[in-house]
Amino acid sequence: MTHNIITTDKLCKTFSTGGLQQHVLRNLDLQIRTGDFTVIMGASGAGKSTLLYALSGIDTPTLGKIRFGDEEIDRMSSDRLAVFRRRNCGFVFQQIYLCDNMSLMDNVMAAGLLVNRNRRQVAARAAELFIHMGLTEQDWHKFPAQLSGGEAQRGAIVRALINTPTVLFADEPTGSLNSASGDAVLDLLTQTNRDGQSIIMVTHDLKSALRGKRVLYLKDGIIRGECALGNYLGDIDVDRGTVLLSTQRETEISSTTTVSRQKDRPSVYAENPRGGSVGEDTTHEVVTRRKRLHRFLAEMGW
Ligand SMILES: Nc1ncnc2c1ncn2[C@@H]1O[C@H](COP(=O)(O)OP(=O)(O)OP(=O)(O)O)[C@@H](O)[C@H]1O
Ligand SMILES: [Mg+2]
Repeated sequence: MTHNIITTDKLCKTFSTGGLQQHVLRNLDLQIRTGDFTVIMGASGAGKSTLLYALSGIDTPTLGKIRFGDEEIDRMSSDRLAVFRRRNCGFVFQQIYLCDNMSLMDNVMAAGLLVNRNRRQVAARAAELFIHMGLTEQDWHKFPAQLSGGEAQRGAIVRALINTPTVLFADEPTGSLNSASGDAVLDLLTQTNRDGQSIIMVTHDLKSALRGKRVLYLKDGIIRGECALGNYLGDIDVDRGTVLLSTQRETEISSTTTVSRQKDRPSVYAENPRGGSVGEDTTHEVVTRRKRLHRFLAEMGW
């Protein structure tokens, strides 16, 4: 049985700048299950990074509780929190943040040796992860500036995984990469999750979000909705941000599309505003599910 690895209770984060208060997270309740690939979406400025930093102990909440495993991290001193983070949290950021004056291998070793003093064990784990991430031995010895963006980000994922974290946190991990490198990074994250790694990823990109088993939508400081987008891969036209009503790709659900049951036909019939008919194989359940999905995407601005 899966259990919750992170639970928040009335999480609040308020920033005070220039005498003004900004309530970014407002009594946010959330459960993250072990082994899930959870995606947090929302508009720019919605508080996605703020939430990720709170969940991972990078920043402390203003009010509310965060239980991470058996620990209440909102009450921890900064020293204990630093040790907790090293052991339990791996981080991947849009800006990659590798140390420029160290080789990729040294970047990874430095992170690994903070937790495990056995250099040989850490090096062996690093090599295993590098190979898994498609990085050659030549790449390991390069400095970050000598790597492509995609290679550097895959190296950063190795660093994030070196201490076998309880949760891998990723904040827009493909935000600075071209589409092919971004896809490769997402493929590797997906594979890592299949191997059992819990992942929480922030993105505002629908294509990236489809990797999530569970996609949460953050708005007005709370989780406004959630959807298992990964179950609907065939139903979404990512490039257009639309939901397909039937297997015929030209037929989309729009707000004016009506779905009704025909008297003399057992299958569901949908009227397209453009007049096209939809596949009669599409069952009422499928149409209803896709309409729900469409509403979720529409609320998120697609
Ligand atoms: N340290 C800080 N001090 C003051 N305000 C902050 C601070 N960090 C974040 N904010 C404010 O909190 C709000 C949420 O910021 P956050 O970075 O979490 O947004 P986001 O959803 O990650 O956006 P983006 O998609 O652009 O990265 C923003 O209005 C931001 O200006
Ligand atoms: Mg952000």
